[in-house]
Amino acid sequence: MGINICVTGGQWGDEGKGKVIDVLSRDFDVVARFQGGSNAGHTVVINRKTYFLHLIPSGIFHKDKVCIIGNGVVLDPFGLKEEIENLKSNGIEVTPEKLSISDRAHLVLPFHNVLDRSLEKSRVFRKIGTTGRGIGPSYATKALRTGIRVIDLYNDEGLKVMLKDSLDCLNYLFENYFNSEIVDIDKLYNDLLEIREFLRPFVSNTVYKLDKLYREGKSILFEGAQASLLDIDHGTYPFVTSSSVIAGGISSGAGFPASKLDYSLGIFKAYCTRVGNGPFPSEAQNGLGEILRSIGGEFGTTTGRPRRCGWFDLVAAKYAAIVNGYTHIALMKLDVLSKFTELPVCVEYKYKGSKLKEFPSDINLLEKVEPVYKFLKGWDIDITGVKTFEDLPIEAQDYVKFIADKLETEVYLISVGPDRSESIVTYNFLEKA
Ligand code: IMP
Repeated sequence: MGINICVTGGQWGDEGKGKVIDVLSRDFDVVARFQGGSNAGHTVVINRKTYFLHLIPSGIFHKDKVCIIGNGVVLDPFGLKEEIENLKSNGIEVTPEKLSISDRAHLVLPFHNVLDRSLEKSRVFRKIGTTGRGIGPSYATKALRTGIRVIDLYNDEGLKVMLKDSLDCLNYLFENYFNSEIVDIDKLYNDLLEIREFLRPFVSNTVYKLDKLYREGKSILFEGAQASLLDIDHGTYPFVTSSSVIAGGISSGAGFPASKLDYSLGIFKAYCTRVGNGPFPSEAQNGLGEILRSIGGEFGTTTGRPRRCGWFDLVAAKYAAIVNGYTHIALMKLDVLSKFTELPVCVEYKYKGSKLKEFPSDINLLEKVEPVYKFLKGWDIDITGVKTFEDLPIEAQDYVKFIADKLETEVYLISVGPDRSESIVTYNFLEKA
């Protein structure tokens, strides 16, 4: 049997999942996405060239890997075409043998983007700060059962009627309530007729494909997008994304039972960042956030927005470890912390004199808690070129061990620079195979 692993972000996103998945996917036969859409922005640096992926799994850079976009993903067909063509123009092969798209995946269409932006603009209380990629509205029409799936693109009689059903009332709202642009149904219909031919060779029922690959003993890597604290159920609602991003999401989002996972790997930045609004108890104060942002280059891949920066939060991380059942972690961007004389790690929260060890469900409370820090010793040398754990300064080793111990996980990888090669890998998942 192969080995199956799910890789998810343990914080608020942008932890560096793209790089880990790129490193890991050398050893796995299949890389599958199960949620989210082009709100994700995975950055992969290969030979100092930077690639941005929004929808296609990072396994695409490796020959002989199968990449799957599962039914739980919401898919912008036009963005996907652009992404495929961009990879091809850089010499990366994207063939139907390498990439399969679920026929059950819901589409993100231009009216979802208009609705996303209109809702965001009209909100007075709790503006979420979405990526504006139409993700929430696409999951919303899925739940309303007016969504359009990939398979519907090939329904000659039904497609136009479905578009009308979905769009007529939205256009009414756009014009009369939101005062925003309306979407031309005929144009959209014709664009979809064109794009469906481009997509056709890639489309299949990926549940059977995954099951077949599993039975053949292939090793499968599930690639999470966004992150645990943005999960629709377990995140800081309503400041969350609209899908099940946690490891259990593979059951609904890819039709692959979570019980068949061998490992659950959580990706954490050695500090913490967040894009968009919402509570962030360990957000750095007194200009330290700007320093972290500038050393760490913390600007969003999808939107270019500056990321809010702060310190590692063990209370939040522990919650993520519980809901994902993390067996291992990868600690990213450890090199960014070089030169700080001391490193605060949030170990609990304080509220009105009481200590809180649990991550609160009530965001009104989470917004008011005070972080309680343990200060670990920093190190004063650049660790970018370091190849083994033992060659890290003792303070950096202690920092990694402290976090892994508290999360009761093993360490799989420590990242000490942006390139694929700048990684200290301390565990081999495939040894068990
Ligand atoms: P949405 O997913 O575009 O609806 O945005 C909802 C929230 O999730 C916003 O705070 C976004 O900034 C955040 N978000 C969505 N995708 C990502 C991601 O890939 N990385 C980090 N934050 C994200």
